[in-house]
Amino acid sequence: MYASTKEILEKANREGYAVGAFNFNNMEFLEAIIEAAEAEKAPIIVATSEGALKYLGNGDPYRGAKLAYVMVKTLADSVSVPVALHLDHGKHMEFILYALQAGYSSVMIDLSDKPFEENLEGTKKVVELAHPLGISVEAELGKLAGVEDNVASRESVLVDPEEAKEFVEKTGVDFLAPAIGTSHGAFKFKGEAKLDFDRLKKVKESTKLPLVLHGASMVPEDKVELANKYGAEIKGAKGVPGDALKKAIEFGINKVNVDTDLRITFMAALRKVLDEKRSEIDPRKLLGPGREALVEIVRDRIRFLGSSGKA
Ligand code: G3H
Ligand code: 13P
Ligand code: ZN
Repeated sequence: MYASTKEILEKANREGYAVGAFNFNNMEFLEAIIEAAEAEKAPIIVATSEGALKYLGNGDPYRGAKLAYVMVKTLADSVSVPVALHLDHGKHMEFILYALQAGYSSVMIDLSDKPFEENLEGTKKVVELAHPLGISVEAELGKLAGVEDNVASRESVLVDPEEAKEFVEKTGVDFLAPAIGTSHGAFKFKGEAKLDFDRLKKVKESTKLPLVLHGASMVPEDKVELANKYGAEIKGAKGVPGDALKKAIEFGINKVNVDTDLRITFMAALRKVLDEKRSEIDPRKLLGPGREALVEIVRDRIRFLGSSGKA
């Protein structure tokens, strides 16, 4: 069933588990994610970035948002588990409006690269627009710096728990993504993975909101190896270790954003079939194995997050 992100995450917050928010750009990924959720009897969030809306609409992001909604609504109506549609990293007001108009369950307004006051004011405006429509809002505090980013100090990019309390009170935001040391993509850490659990704990205590972990892919070694075996060149990939992810959930993360793990899994399966079936020209035979591999990785992640059986 098509569902409210807020209801899904408030239940997760009350009961202490996390729900996966998986990104998609096409039908194969979306079908696999929803099939996996139904098989696991788990609530699920599917998310589109601004780039996904441009891709889905072949250059017209509003068309992309409407298409995303229609696909998600159709698939959600065919399963028993709650399925919510979320705008990921909305940085421009027009994309927020496309999502609100298209019927999304929730939007993220990401002004994390702006000064605190600007982030606060911009988020407040989006809350004022979204709440009367029954649509919930996520915002981000701190920055998700990548391993290569030239930042002055780690502290300067991580969330400030005091600011988080003020931000939540003044904006009325529904979910908060605190930067605690993760980053997007397949190369998250140079040496050992370091997440600031102390900060996370303080943000949870001061806000009590459902919290979101961005850049939460685990980057499974077997999938990276499989991809490399069939011609990929991914070296030094490193994701969030399982024990760190478990601890983050224990300390209050309720929404876990995953995109990279699905990209690597799909790409590895596609490379394999392209290599092994060189005379195949039917796109269904080429893309089908990727979709099947995605169902398995999403089921795996759902079980890991503790949301299996929570629908
Ligand atoms: O937040 C990052 C997601 O992986 C979406 O990435 O902007 O390339 O679609 P994208
Ligand atoms: P990953 O790159 O770790 O999958 O993170 C995805 C994400 O945070 C989407 O918002
Ligand atoms: Zn993200």
